[in-house]
Amino acid sequence: MNNVSFDFGNMLAKNIGEHGVTDAEIAEAARALPGVHERMCAGREKMAWRLLPYDQDEIVKKIKETGKYINENFENFVVLGIGGSALGSKALFAGCCHLKYNELPRETRGGARFYIEDNVYPDKINALFDIIDVSKTAFHVITKSGNTVETMSQFMIVLSMLKERLGDGFKKNVFLTTDKEKGILRKIADENGWETFIVPDGVGGRFSVLSPVGLLSAAVLNIDIDALLSGARAMNDACVRPDLYENPAYMYALLYTVLMKKGVNISVLMPYSEALAPVSEWYCQLWAESLGKQVNLKGETVHSGQTPVRALGVTDQHSQIQLYNEGPFDKTVTFMGVEKFHTTVTIPKPPIPMPDLAYLEGKTLNTLIASEMRGTRHAVTSHGKPNNTITVESVNANTLGKLLFFFEMATAAAGEFLGINTFDQPGVEAGKIATFALMGRPGYEETAKELSKTADTEEKYTFNV
Ligand code: PA5
Repeated sequence: MNNVSFDFGNMLAKNIGEHGVTDAEIAEAARALPGVHERMCAGREKMAWRLLPYDQDEIVKKIKETGKYINENFENFVVLGIGGSALGSKALFAGCCHLKYNELPRETRGGARFYIEDNVYPDKINALFDIIDVSKTAFHVITKSGNTVETMSQFMIVLSMLKERLGDGFKKNVFLTTDKEKGILRKIADENGWETFIVPDGVGGRFSVLSPVGLLSAAVLNIDIDALLSGARAMNDACVRPDLYENPAYMYALLYTVLMKKGVNISVLMPYSEALAPVSEWYCQLWAESLGKQVNLKGETVHSGQTPVRALGVTDQHSQIQLYNEGPFDKTVTFMGVEKFHTTVTIPKPPIPMPDLAYLEGKTLNTLIASEMRGTRHAVTSHGKPNNTITVESVNANTLGKLLFFFEMATAAAGEFLGINTFDQPGVEAGKIATFALMGRPGYEETAKELSKTADTEEKYTFNV
């Protein structure tokens, strides 16, 4: 069933002019494709996230049971995690659930209220505690490394609250997902006989949405996990083809890496769908953290990558489009459109005369949003800015599975074109280490000393008003 399309015509010089990609540039870049394809095939085992749509029957069964148990026994479900441990759940929640899910009555929702806490902003976590009863809340603590300071701090806070409210039964409200061997959370789980879900080896945080990291959220939200995974499998079928013109991930990766080399260093993802807005947030992490690398696999300094930007149609037409159209030729825009929305809103004949607006009467917001996307794409194209369009028939578990897997494959392929390690994140680690040092974690004393020398800003560079 074809229900997701990728139209790259407006990336090409023959359609948009000199700032597009020429046939000669495609031919030149495609010389690397056999090597890229070979490494993508050989790397399949190493990139264990590519097996997730195929090899999780037992885990999915357990996850569905756990989701059911949570919905039968708790009023709220809170994800505690950050980065790749949270963004996939956000994308699934918005993509597959009612946009005011938590405000719906329980019978309509069909499950626990759903929250994601991916920050340590004190007022926000307290705001959550103001509206939930922790004793009636299931917490899903997700950290692949098992050491992440934000998640572990939240875990400690929640555990103490639960112990205070529930006494010895406090552990039953907490569900854990982490590495099978490494990390502090692993140790805690083992020492306390806590059952955990596992983030498999070879599944990095930003590639983990189809592992228990995202799937437990999906189960609690009654999302059709089978449709999600079958969507990913269908996209995988398309993204393992060797031919550039048959493989959307290779085409996306090739065009983007050609443009990166020409100085197009910004990638805007602009869904015309509130349901897909968090997909852009998820994509931003995937694209930024995977491709933003100081050195390539040969150890040469390359400073590769492209800055991803989230925009939302139609809202950002009134804030960013001026820049996209008339500003520098440093960006490419991916429009994401939806053919069928779940509901239709018709603009009625108003109760007072409005002759100047009569042209809108009887039209739908569905037509308006689609027209705005077409119009904006036309404007961006006529300004010679490279852009492409992903269209989904409707936003649901199956199309979301395809979309997420498409971007994962495109990112992995782009990393191969760039010759970098797509799957590490030394730049993130550096910040984590500095935080450990500043928070006094044993073993980080040297870093703490270094930081104490640089922490203060000189008075002469500071305005105090
Ligand atoms: O993609 C990644 O690896 C990161 O964004 C991680 O998901 C993020 O840093 C959280 O790490 P962890 O899951 O180990 O707590």
